[in-house]
Amino acid sequence: MGYDARFRVWRGDLDGGGLQDYTVAVNEGEVVLDIIHRLQATQTPDLAVRWNCKAGKCGSCSAEVNGRPRLLCMTRMSTFTPDEVITVTPMRTFPIIKDLVTDVSFNYEKAREIPSFTPPPGLAPGDYRMKQVDVERSQEFRKCIECFLCQDTCHVVRDHEENKQAFSGPRYLMRITELEMHPLDTADRREMAQNEAGLGYCNITKCCTEVCPEHIKITDNALIPLKERVVDRKYDPIVWLGNKLFRR
Ligand code: SF4
Ligand code: F3S
Ligand code: FES
Repeated sequence: MGYDARFRVWRGDLDGGGLQDYTVAVNEGEVVLDIIHRLQATQTPDLAVRWNCKAGKCGSCSAEVNGRPRLLCMTRMSTFTPDEVITVTPMRTFPIIKDLVTDVSFNYEKAREIPSFTPPPGLAPGDYRMKQVDVERSQEFRKCIECFLCQDTCHVVRDHEENKQAFSGPRYLMRITELEMHPLDTADRREMAQNEAGLGYCNITKCCTEVCPEHIKITDNALIPLKERVVDRKYDPIVWLGNKLFRR
């Protein structure tokens, strides 16, 4: 059964903006992105929204619905009652470009800071061998669609612009973990994780895990194991002695 929904959508750009009210038709089986598209088609042709796959796989349509970070294409209208006002706003953690579109380059900058995969020297491609258990461990992290909802939701940067320099956010701490767990990788990123990526800022609130559309257990399977590895390094007596002798 179709009905008319009340939508409140943030319109504006870097210079400012505000919420605007619209009444839009809804059909059975639709998602929030369908309604935004209908708004564009019938009332607001200049409304900016980023999207691509409409299947929860490209990670482009991230925004906030009633204040919660969500993929617009995976948020079903049936989760709201017909009399509810549905508020759609851009991701709060990143600078606005226009309307629902934000500038997510913070994430790409953080990605570039991570030392890349470093196999042992002289290892030919055909010589790569990994145990299935190691493949499976990192497989979960590779489901990431880079929607940046976890980055948007983490309180360390959500309301603290000043922390962005020192904190890479859950998605990129998870990337460090993935590389650290790779059996063929020879680089040691533990110090980098702590000092440059700001692992210590994470106090395991798990909000990142809650919003991940791929249901990756970011906190339990990536951030906590990374913290354990960093602690191991710090309190390993051999490492401690080495630091004492050679790093003065
Ligand atoms: Fe999105 Fe999950 Fe990847 Fe974070 S870890 S960017 S929430 S898919
Ligand atoms: Fe932030 Fe996730 Fe840690 S929300 S504080 S990175 S557990
Ligand atoms: Fe691709 Fe929503 S449009 S994830």
